[in-house]
Amino acid sequence: MYLLRLSPLHLLSFFALLLQAVLGADPLYHFCSNSKNYTSKSTYETNLNKVMKSLINTVPSKGFGVASAGKDPDEVYGLGLCRGDVSSTDCKSCLTDADPELRSRCPNDKEAIIWYDYCELKYSYDDFFGKIDTKYIFYMWNTQNVSDPATFNYKVKELLNQVATEAYQSKKFYATGELVIDSSEKLYGLAQCTRDLSSAYCKECLDNAISDLPNCCDGKRGGRVVGGSCNIRYELYSFVNS
Ligand SMILES: *[C@@H]1O[C@H](CO)[C@@H](O)[C@H](O)[C@H]1NC(C)=O
Ligand SMILES: *[C@@H]1O[C@H](CO)[C@@H](O)[C@H](O)[C@H]1NC(C)=O
Repeated sequence: MYLLRLSPLHLLSFFALLLQAVLGADPLYHFCSNSKNYTSKSTYETNLNKVMKSLINTVPSKGFGVASAGKDPDEVYGLGLCRGDVSSTDCKSCLTDADPELRSRCPNDKEAIIWYDYCELKYSYDDFFGKIDTKYIFYMWNTQNVSDPATFNYKVKELLNQVATEAYQSKKFYATGELVIDSSEKLYGLAQCTRDLSSAYCKECLDNAISDLPNCCDGKRGGRVVGGSCNIRYELYSFVNS
């Protein structure tokens, strides 16, 4: 029989992991507009509460939704998106965490956006539905380099172009794919758009994201270009639920 010896440090990290599993994942990134504020207990706040409640209730079943509430100048527009493979239960818990997290990170801000692995949540005073978000974009990359960047970058682009084409032609604006790069390695890719866009705008958004790759991810083992309207990702390991 084996005895598992746990040091206080082990126990601590075990509880940290447990806590993370219970409390949910950390956000990837967020932006506050830092341009316009609402006051507490205002009509804008009431409308924002309505929009968030509606998104948390309606987005999980389809993985996407928009909502608006109120009238100009207090009208609030909101959008929620979950990664295409995420279950409605996980989608709901992601959005449920995202709402208070975003509000505490951007207190009283009239426009803000937050991303997690599983979901994205955005609201604004501005009617942004159907338009490509060029304001809020961030990048993530694996700090490790590949040995042959030129060939690798070419393969990444090949895979993501193929996945993007499938995504903007699909009903869910979501696609994943794989590309064997040699006998021991395989590339995995993902592309997704918010479904308020037209198919042409989804294509444009994904094309822009792919052409942005050299700015973040040149020769990197993994990378993401993540915006308010679309995102792409590639890794040398599988990262979606099948
Ligand atoms: C909005 O409120 C935040 C926090 O209370 C403050 O730091 C910021 O300067 C305000 N921005 C504007 C544009 O009033
Ligand atoms: C990857 O390559 C870049 C550019 O050549 C270099 O600056 C960086 O230190 C490398 N990173 C690692 C982890 O080797």
